Amino acid sequence: MQETLDAIIRSAENDCRVVSTRAELEAFKAGLMGPRGSFTQVRKQMGQIAKEERPAFGKKINETKNRLEELLAEIMGRIERTELSSRLGAAIDPTLPSPEHSPGSLHPLTQIRDELCAIFRQVGFVVAEGSEVETEFFCFDALNTPPDHPARDLQDTYYLQEKIHFSNIPQHDKERYVLRSHTSTVQIRTMLDQPPPLRIISPGRCFRRDTPDATHSANFHQIEGLYVDKNVTVKDLKATLDYCFQSLMGKEVRTRFRPHFFPYTEPSFEVDFHSGHLAKVGAEWTEIMGCGMVDPSVFEAVGYDPEVWTGYAFGLGIERIAMILYGVDDIRYLYQNDLRFLDQFA
Ligand code: DAH
Repeated sequence: MQETLDAIIRSAENDCRVVSTRAELEAFKAGLMGPRGSFTQVRKQMGQIAKEERPAFGKKINETKNRLEELLAEIMGRIERTELSSRLGAAIDPTLPSPEHSPGSLHPLTQIRDELCAIFRQVGFVVAEGSEVETEFFCFDALNTPPDHPARDLQDTYYLQEKIHFSNIPQHDKERYVLRSHTSTVQIRTMLDQPPPLRIISPGRCFRRDTPDATHSANFHQIEGLYVDKNVTVKDLKATLDYCFQSLMGKEVRTRFRPHFFPYTEPSFEVDFHSGHLAKVGAEWTEIMGCGMVDPSVFEAVGYDPEVWTGYAFGLGIERIAMILYGVDDIRYLYQNDLRFLDQFA
């Protein structure tokens, strides 16, 4: 009996060397310890052993079992190491730093936001913050947007349920809460908070009830700008925007102003940007943002004297800039967090 057990160990020690997969390990284990396994067969003979020999036999059985389990654990360790190193493409040295170490990188929208903020800071703008939940007053009324303006339509703007109240988002009156549809709200909050002159930019997230497609998203990002001082002119506005785009995209960039309408600026413009030199972009002139000279009614709404103070304001979409700058033809790529896309901006 003893010899049979020794023989089982010897052959297991020998055979275990060729076991290299989990399936082979299962079969190997079954051949020893399964219901018909060689070790199980010997073990079953316990009943036939003379009583006085049983303790010695029991001890040998235990020793054999321990040795076999040791072998199985060794094989499992080997299989796991092979699996791991084949996944990493090399043998493992656990003392080395992880080869897949990736520090991560900023999202392209964050990169553009940070870059634009740095550019505007250089010419004296400071960053102002607003909140994503706003009230109708800050989103529309104070911005000279009448109650029947299409932007206020339920189909365009997200309104919050009337029973909801936010103690940290001050209402001006009893008006409804909205998810802000643009960052222009920050103009009003800042002007109510600070006396002129001021020069702010405000990056942030906006929400509109748009059906997502290649160029629309229900939430997107803007940067708002506001400059209030005495004798501010369109020339200042244009020079600042030219400086901004040239700093961001190169000296060859040109902008042109097209007359437009926004309730809170007069005159208002849409800005086209000449993208001919950027090989990735097809169109020559691309509309890039809105801007204008602050409408006197906006100054009145915040208690600035429109006879004394003048100013310009602008708002640009960060996604739009990213798409132009990087030749991205579908806005949804910017939100899918697919590493194959994001890695290009690392
Ligand atoms: N709020 C506008 C929009 O969301 C952008 C804009 C246009 C902002 C003109 C301004 C401005 O400050 O003066 O489309």
